[in-house]
Amino acid sequence: MDLVRDLEALAEGARLSIASASDDRALEELRVRFLGKKGEISAVLRGMGQLAAEERPRVGEVANRVRDEVESLLVLARQRIEDARLEQELRGSRIDVTLPGRRLLPRGHRHPVTRTTEEIVAIFARLGYEVASGPEIELDWYNFEALNIPADHPARDMQDTFYVDGAAIGRPEGEGAVLLRTHTSPIQIRAMKRAGSPPIRVVAPGRVYRSDYDQTHTPMFHQVEGICVGPAITFADLKGTLAAFARAFFGAGTRTRVRPSYFPFVEPGAEVDVSCSICGGSGSRSGARCGTCKGSGWLEVLGSGMVHPKVLENVGFDPAAVTGFAFGMGVERMAMLKYGIADLRLFYENDLRFLEQF
Ligand code: PHE
Repeated sequence: MDLVRDLEALAEGARLSIASASDDRALEELRVRFLGKKGEISAVLRGMGQLAAEERPRVGEVANRVRDEVESLLVLARQRIEDARLEQELRGSRIDVTLPGRRLLPRGHRHPVTRTTEEIVAIFARLGYEVASGPEIELDWYNFEALNIPADHPARDMQDTFYVDGAAIGRPEGEGAVLLRTHTSPIQIRAMKRAGSPPIRVVAPGRVYRSDYDQTHTPMFHQVEGICVGPAITFADLKGTLAAFARAFFGAGTRTRVRPSYFPFVEPGAEVDVSCSICGGSGSRSGARCGTCKGSGWLEVLGSGMVHPKVLENVGFDPAAVTGFAFGMGVERMAMLKYGIADLRLFYENDLRFLEQF
């Protein structure tokens, strides 16, 4: 019995059959046939018992070499089959990635609300304001309390404010109500607290939420808030800043007027009107009453005022040492007035015939 010759014959057979295997299943069968427990190499080795002791090492050595060779032939064959499969897949493919696209899609552009926000913020950035932001899900303290809005103020009413179930978002009980902010004014408070001490000059754009829906109100809309606090800031600074803003936003000839108004977090409070951007302040347009300003020649554009001393105290500023002014405006409203848009809801209907005009 010549086991070495048997092993050499076995190796030759393995080389031939592995070389002609054409898929993974055939290879797996060959692996079992040669290397398996009941395979051909094992069968040869079982015959070793009948060999003389001094012959065994030589046969063992040949058996190991043949097993190693078959193993590496199988690895190479697996790779060869995989390469062939990939090659075939690529050749069969009908996609020519070098061809140009058949129809180039037109590039989009920014939404009018985004554009208007950016315009407003850019004007204040040129006046030296930093941009700040705050959370849309806000705490009662920032949205109301710190802004000197008392618990019985109508702005807190369920009809205006969307309250959030604090427990559902993991807030411990007793930490006050959680709500969707109703204005960007809580960012005033956050910005002052973050700064720690005056001076501070910040604009803050963002979404706000109120339970409202009609031609000029949507449950979500956008505001830009502004605050400027420092030693000896006066109402004249407020007027000068907002007049400069109005000219930059609506055009160089824009006039501004200031009317007394009430917001709990300012004293005195003022509403700012600008001369109508559509009729130029005359109140009429091609002989008819101007629809945008309803014939008055004026447009109400924002709320403002001198920061209330209590608000300064609430953030740890000394009202005897510093003063400041704040303002807030609705972005959709600014865009409507600038572009003569009659219905606020157009901004949110995603009608391209509307959006593509901007
Ligand atoms: N937060 C006010 C509103 O939403 C606007 C405002 C801001 C008024 C700052 C005065 C000062 O109506």
